[in-house]
Parts: sequence; structure tokens; C-alpha cells
Amino acid sequence: MTSLEQKIKQGRTFAIISHPDAGKTTLTEKLLLFGGAIREAGAVKARRQQAHARSDWMAIEQQRGISVTSTVLQFFYNGYRVNLLDTPGHQDFSEDTYRTLLAADSAVMVIDAAKGVEPQTIKLFEVAAKRHIPVFTFINKLDREGKDPWDLLQEIERVLGIQTFPMNWPVGMGLDFRGIYDVRQGYFEYFDREHQAYERMDFNALGDKVPEDQRQELRDALELMAEAGETFAAERVNEGQLSPVFFGSAIANFGVQNFLDTFLELAPPPTPRMSQQGPVPPKSPHFSGFVFKIQANMNPQHRDRIAFVRIASGRFERGMAVTHVRTQRVIRLNQPQQFLAQDRFIVEEAYAGDVIGLHDAGLFHIGDTLTEGSAFEFTGFPRFSPEHFAEVELKYALKHKQYQRGLKELTEEGLIQVFHPTDNGPQVFLGVVGPLQFEVLEYRMKNEYGVDVNIRPLPYTMARWIDGPWPELGRFDRATILLDTENRPVLLVEDPYTLARLQEKVPSMHLYESSDHI
Ligand code: G4P
Repeated sequence: MTSLEQKIKQGRTFAIISHPDAGKTTLTEKLLLFGGAIREAGAVKARRQQAHARSDWMAIEQQRGISVTSTVLQFFYNGYRVNLLDTPGHQDFSEDTYRTLLAADSAVMVIDAAKGVEPQTIKLFEVAAKRHIPVFTFINKLDREGKDPWDLLQEIERVLGIQTFPMNWPVGMGLDFRGIYDVRQGYFEYFDREHQAYERMDFNALGDKVPEDQRQELRDALELMAEAGETFAAERVNEGQLSPVFFGSAIANFGVQNFLDTFLELAPPPTPRMSQQGPVPPKSPHFSGFVFKIQANMNPQHRDRIAFVRIASGRFERGMAVTHVRTQRVIRLNQPQQFLAQDRFIVEEAYAGDVIGLHDAGLFHIGDTLTEGSAFEFTGFPRFSPEHFAEVELKYALKHKQYQRGLKELTEEGLIQVFHPTDNGPQVFLGVVGPLQFEVLEYRMKNEYGVDVNIRPLPYTMARWIDGPWPELGRFDRATILLDTENRPVLLVEDPYTLARLQEKVPSMHLYESSDHI
């Protein structure tokens, strides 16, 4: 095995998806502790709390340095090089959140045992499912009363349409929570509540640590599993058809190591990425990568941004010359950065699966490809359907040039999607995935471009890209058609009911939730 192949084999790049409050931050923190990337519990949490203490954009702006470093966290554990991609899930939920999943090879879905599958989890899961990446499930908060484990598995299967396979099984819940049984390896992990510790032991050697009725419950559960006859099939996990499920409590650090060990063993190393010339294997000797996120930097004077590049193949070396394929320019990557939990540092070398941050003075767009050797482009960077829409207007006409520039650059960054009327009228419409993005836009337009804008919310909640010519809607209530920046027609509707009525009226109209099908 070459050293590149070895490095690729050790790489794991994944994202954690969850609904707010399910415990993503707490789990991330525990994973980082195992990886030695942070020294004390509370470090990630404290920063997040500051960032979310106030809901306005100012507070988030102050925390920007932090959110940059938490976009990707690298740590080493048990011989693995782990890249954990952050998917913001709170008020700052945005298209970025979806796009981060494009850079991951697998996803970990955190579910609150008391709440089950929640709306934001569904949205993020759908993006992962479209890519057919493996999704692992961590059912959290077993130290509290929650739903019955069987019901939770059924709920995941029913709501998300993925099969589940319990990798461990919880014994008790809430105050009666005793621990988990590792189904594959056949050991029990006892939860020592008093010392917030855990102990691996033989189930038959438990003595009186677990009352007989709870032991019987476990035997019954194992019997049921055996009767169901499902065997664990790693290839179905890899195809995204089966989700291995782990139970635990992130806050008590219980079940986290059990999860991490098994997850790293089963999760795929960097996988090939699709390009116009077919799949690009990670072990190709030539470096290639794509930009999946652009984040503006703190300093409005410099307008510099960081473009996050997922390395798709080969080895990256500081100072190397690569082709920026869209512009055909050769650029030298002199100051690439990588991120540990609390610091960023200049990276000397990195491999397929890793993420590097490049200083960007405006060259990069989302989806741009960088290559060494032959120039090709990666495919599959959809625009996702915005869920909030507004009409935007410049307050003082004199600032038109700055206004245009601001809209253009912030669109390239992926902050907003811009739409225009089909009759080429002057109005400008905006679409965003999370409503906070409008506040962000307003703030940044003023601070970075010196432009005041009026943003008038519109009642639409869904956008669908239309394949082929668009129909004449006439005076159809609660819907309109606009053009995106590439002049593709997009249908905006206020609600699913209107969408269904329209589809009935114009059955020949083919609609897509994201732009990548067109
Ligand atoms: P998020 O990033 O997914 O939004 O969730 P986060 O980790 O911030 O956790 C949300 C809340 O759930 C926090 O409580 C956290 O302490 C709690 N939590 C996380 N994991 C567990 C768990 O395994 N068991 C229990 N019982 N609670 C858990 P909070 O009250 O919002 O914050 P804090 O004051 O506890 O920090």
C-alpha cells in the first residue's frame, strides 16, 4: 500500500445532523475529548452559547472567528484521521447546512430519545439520503425518560424510510438506566450513575448490578432481534439503506465510546466524487478538490473570505500550483489552513477526505473545482429550495453599483439566492433556507458595502425548478414564476396545497426541488 493509500484508508469525514437541542454539540464535544482535541468538557458548548445567546446577527458576527474554526474539526483517534464537519442547526440554519453534507462521506444523526424524529432532522436526512451516504444514528438522552426503544426504531423507519439495526440495546431508561448491551460483540457496558463512569463486563457477571426484571427485558429484546432474523449487512449501510443505531447519553459520556469505535470501523473512508469525466477516485495521484462553503471573514476592510475545499483526490502540499478550473487560472496555495478544535493553523500537507481553508479575495464560488494535472469539474452542487422569500430594494439609488456588487458576491458565497421577474422587470427577489439569512444580508450589505436595503417578506414557502418551458399561470393565486441567476424558471408557491393544485392544472410541468436535475 502506498503512503497515500494508507492515509486515505485512515480518513473519516462525516457530518452530524440533528434537530436543535437533540445534543449535537454535547456529542461533538465528547468526540473531541476522545480525540484529545479539547482538554475540558464545556469548551465547545461555552462558545456556542455565546454565539446563540442573542438571536440577532450582531452576536453571531462577533462570534464569526469561532464559527469559522468550527466548520471543520480534525482529530486523531485509534489510528483514524477524523474530519468532523459542522452543520449549523440553530437560527443560522442555511443552505450551508445542506451543502456541508455534500462534503461528507457519512452522517451521524442525533435523535433525542424523548422527542424522536424532528423536522430539521428530516430535512437534513433527506439531503444525506439523496447522496446515498451511510447514516448512523445516535439516540441520545437515555439518562432521561424517553420513548420505548422499539418505537423509536419504528419511527425512524416509518418517517425516514430507512431500515434500522440496533448495534447496542439499552437496559432501562431515565433513573432506571443501567447501561447498554453491545449486540455485535456481546458485552454489557454498565452505567455507573454515581461516578458518571462506565464499565465493560460480561452480562452474566453482572451480579445484582442490574435487577432481574431488567435482565429479562434485555433477554427478551435480544430474542426478538434474533427472531426478526435481520443480520447486519455492512454493504447496506454503505448504500444508505440501513442505519446502525446506537443508544447512549452524550452528557453522561455514556455509550459515546462504544459508538465512536464502531462508527469509525464501519464508516467509509473517502469515497469517489462525481465529475464530468466520471468518478474521481480518492487515490488518484493528482490533487483535486471542490469548494463547498465560503465564509466571509471578520474584517470588513479586507473583504477576504475563506473558501472551504474538500480534497477529493490525491495529496495536497502547501505552496502547490493548481488550476482553478472555472477561470482556467493557475493559483498557488500558499496559506492554506486547517482547523483543530480551538485553533486554525497553516497546513503543510493534507489528503483526500480532508478539508482545507483557502483565503479568498473573491475568486471562488461554491462548487468550484481545483485540480492538479488535467482540468475537469466536479458535478452535483444543487441549489436547494429556499423556504423564505422576500423582495429587496435599495434605499438610495446612488448606491446602485455597490448594491449590485453586494448581491452578486453574497450570492456567490451562497448566503442568498437571487431571482428576477420573467418579464425582465427591475425587481429583485431573494430566497433563503433559514430566515436569519435576511438579517445577515441586511447587516452585511450595510457593513461591508455601505448599502441600506429594504427587505419585504413574501408569503412563499417553497421553490421548485421547472424543467422545460414554463406555463402561463395567469392570475393563479399564491404562486408565481421567477428566473434564477442562470435564467432557469422557478415556481414559487405559498403552500403544498397550491403546489398540488398547480400540478393538477398543468400535469405536463416537471418540477424539481433542487436545481441539479435540470
Ligand atoms: P444541540 O447542539 O443539538 O442543539 O444540543 P446541545 O448539545 O446543545 O444540547 C441541548 C440540551 O440537551 C442541553 O441542555 C444539553 O445539556 C442537553 N443534553 C445533551 N445531551 C444530553 C443527554 O445525554 N442527556 C440529557 N439529559 N441532556 C442532554 P441545556 O439545558 O439547553 O443546556 P445546558 O445548560 O445543560 O448546557
